[in-house]
Amino acid sequence: MDRGSHDIVPRVMPHLRAWTSLYGRVFLWWQGPRPVLCVGDYDMAKRVFTDKSGLYVKQGAPPAIVALMGRGLPLIKGDDWARHRRVVHPAFAMDKIKMMTGAMAACAGEVVRAWEARAAAAASGEVTVEVGRQFSELTADVISHTAFGSSYRRGKEVFLAQRELQFIAFASFNNVRVPGMQYVPTKANVRRWQLERKVRSTLVAIINERLAAAKEARGYGTDLLGLMLEANAGDGGQRIMSMDEVIDECKTFFFAGHETTAHLLTWAMFLLGTHPEWQRRLREEVLRECGGAEVPLHGDALNKLKLVTMVLYETLRLYAPVNVVTRLATADADLSGVKVPKGTVLSAPFAILHRDEEAWGADAGEFNPFRFRDGVGRAASYPNALLSFSLGPRSCIGQGFAMLEAKATLALILRRFAFDVAPEYVHAPAEFLTLQPLHGMPVVLKLVCP
Ligand code: HEM
Repeated sequence: MDRGSHDIVPRVMPHLRAWTSLYGRVFLWWQGPRPVLCVGDYDMAKRVFTDKSGLYVKQGAPPAIVALMGRGLPLIKGDDWARHRRVVHPAFAMDKIKMMTGAMAACAGEVVRAWEARAAAAASGEVTVEVGRQFSELTADVISHTAFGSSYRRGKEVFLAQRELQFIAFASFNNVRVPGMQYVPTKANVRRWQLERKVRSTLVAIINERLAAAKEARGYGTDLLGLMLEANAGDGGQRIMSMDEVIDECKTFFFAGHETTAHLLTWAMFLLGTHPEWQRRLREEVLRECGGAEVPLHGDALNKLKLVTMVLYETLRLYAPVNVVTRLATADADLSGVKVPKGTVLSAPFAILHRDEEAWGADAGEFNPFRFRDGVGRAASYPNALLSFSLGPRSCIGQGFAMLEAKATLALILRRFAFDVAPEYVHAPAEFLTLQPLHGMPVVLKLVCP
């Protein structure tokens, strides 16, 4: 694609582009025996996502995904989901997340210092970095620290094991399924079993240490795991979630919160690298609100970064890490005048909705962060049109966390570097569960001395 174009729809959902031009925003197609309704209309999408009656529920995930991710929040339904959400929610309250700014900034600071050293050693004062890979490492580090606090080294090992399990699972996704094959001790299966044992035993050990510390009145800890265990203790001391359920929620932190945030940062670097005027504005704002490189970042200063926030929202609009979210109709329904039979899948293509000129205006295809100047809820003619974190009861629990992490990282980068997207970058957004640059995101960073 041309670097100036943000029209990812023909690349990542060409079938929907073709069918939308033939049939309009709302139409039906078949996925094997299952009817799928394209929910390309904001009013419909809002009704589907904000439903609390159980009419539109999450679709069951394939067994391979459940085996990999565990039965954490994104994959469960009904009373189980409500019980888990009650326990996990307090860990993501804004006042708790703000206390994690230090850990986020420390992890990002290490990455920035390594880039500084490389740039300072180069005669040109420049360094070219594949930022996608670096952000993937960074967000894994951040989630290890914020989820497991002082046990972060073991937490990181768990995440590395989960990453390997993910590779093994993806490598076998297209294999012909032979019944019982998962029990045969092939090389991949033996490795999978080893890794699964490691993930479980390490998490059990960390959790048991926390439970023991709490018994000795030393508290559960102020990281995500500690806050979750505290909420799990309930009022009468009766645990709300079992050990296995707590383990599955820990695994979920990694799967739900790590690559998504890395992609948000990667696309933000792309947009700032190709819009130098915005990069300059943001740098001025960061230096004004947060001070120079010698001043530690804190949550209150990050809160004042209005322009940075606007750019992140615009990045989430044009390059949403998650571009399609689905629900299943559990009974016959009337959805904004469309009769939806029980068993229909409702599929909301965020990439198409986010480019709807009726909602976003004639410049919907362009990068214009100013549209968010009055807040995220009022950026379009339709309220709450930014769907990147979804809407309603099943919306992203980690959105405040992701935004804070992205703000802290961008602030640290902007006050030390000016950057351009490298000449060798090929603009090819591609969807592998999440939206990512197919050939990576090389960025040329140049030290600035404010
Ligand atoms: C830019 C970063 C992120 C994006 C774009 C994103 C996007 C989403 C979306 C679209 C959903 C809803 C899916 C659906 O309705 O079916 C979701 C749910 C979820 N996200 Fe995120 N997410 C991000 C970061 C995070 C982080 C950092 C965490 C945790 C550390 C997290 C944890 C979760 C969980 C647990 C759910 C399931 C919530 C529930 O069903 O109750 N996410 N996310």
